[in-house]
Amino acid sequence: MNIKPDPNKIFPISGVNNLVYVKPTIKNPNIIVGDFTYFSDVDFEKHVTHHYDFNGDKLIIGKFCQIAAGVEFVMNGANHQMNSVSTFPFYIFEGWEQKAPSLSEMPLKGDTVIGNDVWIGQNAVILPGVHVDDGAIIGLNSVVASDVPAYTIVAGNPAREIKKRFDAELISLMLKFRWWDLSISEINSLIPILTCSDLAKVKNFVANRLKEQNKL
Ligand SMILES: CC(C)(COP(=O)(O)OP(=O)(O)OC[C@H]1O[C@@H](n2cnc3c(N)ncnc32)[C@H](O)[C@@H]1OP(=O)(O)O)[C@@H](O)C(=O)NCCC(=O)NCCS
Repeated sequence: MNIKPDPNKIFPISGVNNLVYVKPTIKNPNIIVGDFTYFSDVDFEKHVTHHYDFNGDKLIIGKFCQIAAGVEFVMNGANHQMNSVSTFPFYIFEGWEQKAPSLSEMPLKGDTVIGNDVWIGQNAVILPGVHVDDGAIIGLNSVVASDVPAYTIVAGNPAREIKKRFDAELISLMLKFRWWDLSISEINSLIPILTCSDLAKVKNFVANRLKEQNKL
């Protein structure tokens, strides 16, 4: 049987019902997820917390991300008003005479944006407004409170850079190459390069391919 990768299939491994391709499970229009990003659990939307329509913030995740079990995306609704002497949210409870504060009074940090081919280790927590760029790795149990550059490994609480994954030249080539935007058949033929540990060979291959395409 010739099975083709299908980004719209919820369970991409036959007989395994606790790992999903995320995109076909999403119902909330403020959560946007690219093809083939998977979650090592079910019910991804339950792991996006404090995500209220009235804040209008979006969670945007690219293609081919690997999201481990227990990961939480904490959205802007988690943060109480802080520019006042009390952080108590009177307005959400019955009987208290406070109207909902205007959004400009709230500590909103914007959308959470995760790039492509990002690996997020188990139980990591991503705070509101954080941008994690392509190819980054988030260590398990990290609390990510600030942006993570492309192809960088971060870990800890707060998550700090452990190292760059590659030298600047290979990172720049990979950011131009954007393999995740190619067709399924092209990606299939590139797997020996994408999974090759001889990085000098990979650098050579990608540079030549970009030159052929007049992108370098
Ligand atoms: C981050 C990770 C990928 C390791 O990367 P690595 O490049 O091999 O890093 P090392 O193990 O060499 O560690 C480098 C440093 O980071 C620290 N470190 C590694 N992972 C860490 C973590 N999750 N939290 C805090 N510190 C961490 C190490 O202690 C070491 O610190 P030191 O330099 O002060 O000694 C790995 O630790 C990790 O967290 N993997 C995620 C696994 C997972 O969640 N899988 C789920 C199934 S998909």
